[in-house]
Amino acid sequence: MLKPITFHFETGAKKALDPDVARIRLAHAKESLLIREDGLGVLEVGAGGEMKDITRRKLVLLARKIVSVVKAHHIERVHIDVADLFRQLGDSHLHLKEEELAELISTHMELANFEFVVYKSEPKEGWKFLRDVFVTGCKTKTVQKAFLRGQVIAKEINACRSLANTPGGDMTPALLAGAARNAVRGLPVKITVLGEREIKKVGMGGILGVSCGSDEKPQFIILEYRGGTSNEKPVVMVGKGVTFDTGGLNLKPSDAIYEMHMDMSGGAAVIHAVALAARLGIKRNIIGLVPAVENMPSGSSYHPGDVLQSLSGRTIEVLNTDAEGRIILADAITYAKRYKPRLVVDVATLTGAAMAALGQRCSAIFTEDETLEHKLRVWGEESGDYVWPLPLWEEYDEEIKGTFGDIANVGKTRYGGAITAAKFLHAFAKDLACPWVHIDMAPRMTSIEGEYLAKGAVGVPVRLLLKIVEDF
Ligand code: BES
Ligand code: MN
Ligand code: ZN
Repeated sequence: MLKPITFHFETGAKKALDPDVARIRLAHAKESLLIREDGLGVLEVGAGGEMKDITRRKLVLLARKIVSVVKAHHIERVHIDVADLFRQLGDSHLHLKEEELAELISTHMELANFEFVVYKSEPKEGWKFLRDVFVTGCKTKTVQKAFLRGQVIAKEINACRSLANTPGGDMTPALLAGAARNAVRGLPVKITVLGEREIKKVGMGGILGVSCGSDEKPQFIILEYRGGTSNEKPVVMVGKGVTFDTGGLNLKPSDAIYEMHMDMSGGAAVIHAVALAARLGIKRNIIGLVPAVENMPSGSSYHPGDVLQSLSGRTIEVLNTDAEGRIILADAITYAKRYKPRLVVDVATLTGAAMAALGQRCSAIFTEDETLEHKLRVWGEESGDYVWPLPLWEEYDEEIKGTFGDIANVGKTRYGGAITAAKFLHAFAKDLACPWVHIDMAPRMTSIEGEYLAKGAVGVPVRLLLKIVEDF
């Protein structure tokens, strides 16, 4: 596995740097350039415009671009002068505190330094990654601490990316439960995993229905972190944990199936968001719930037309076995009620329709709480886990009325699929006595060209979840 970057902090007067440490300098140009000055390497990273025009979004990309350029030049050790960077940003309209900038830089450098190499043989000369960053120009210890905090956050996100990237053959529901145990090992988090028998006993017929086509037994993963006072209501996060989504008997076409080992990305995000909150000692109570199943076609699969008995008491008419995520989430959302939550957030790679609506730049959010919706957009901008709202209007209820069951798992028309999926969840979330938000992260399941992140999972919305539990 790749090691995280080591940050070395130097205060006071600039010491003479090792000749093999490249200095990083931002340039207005688009392209980047490696030059030699006084025997030292200077890497000019092209910001693609003047620093005064920089936005927070551009800064995120710039921090990642530094690493991408460094790797392209096979440089392992660099020097960043934070004071100089602050100066350059001084006349921009960005009003970032120094510690905010420090956290942002270290987070995004660490994210850009990640690649999923677990299944690759190491080249003889070893992996080429950025190893050391010599940081000078931090005015205070707070700024240094922010660098380290940013790195803790990014390491957790990278662990989430590894988990989401793991092939389906090596990431079954039972193995996902094992990965959750690993993720919180040594942290003050209580983990409980319900097996098939207990899931049956509780009455989560949705989870049982989806899982019955697979040889792999379903698991219901429960994480409890209590960093707040004993009478404070928790935030409950629910993550979709479909370890492989073939579509079931409504089998997916070949070109839509190969990435479906990542259909547990929401679950991975919830697991690592709980771990991160515990690692940072956030003073809040947080519960993570991950229903984990494999959606397979076989002689024992659930059928289109089956009617499942959900935990809520409502029956679910399965019109399409490929709309499985909402079925398992419905049971988990109902289960969340037991914790008397102050907020329930669910995260899922739920619909291709969310991608059709929004492209691959942001996750879709759905909530009836307008204040919360606004806050989520702000937190999205701050965290880089961008989100955009879609409606939950009553008119859409018509779409998912059941014929032989209370509620159908797909809409009557083929339009607005992200919304009908959200409305389905809403029918169960209505029973909660607290605000609820659904995050359809399918658009952000994998990285895209130009965001300077390795192919595969991007680890959203771990940072956004952290903001939610910290600030809600
Ligand atoms: N996991 C998929 C959604 C998905 C597709 C996520 C592509 C990420 C990338 C989900 O279970 C699914 O199959 N949804 C169907 C719903 C349809 C049957 C109503 C879809 O989006 O096609
Ligand atoms: Mn599906
Ligand atoms: Zn799915």
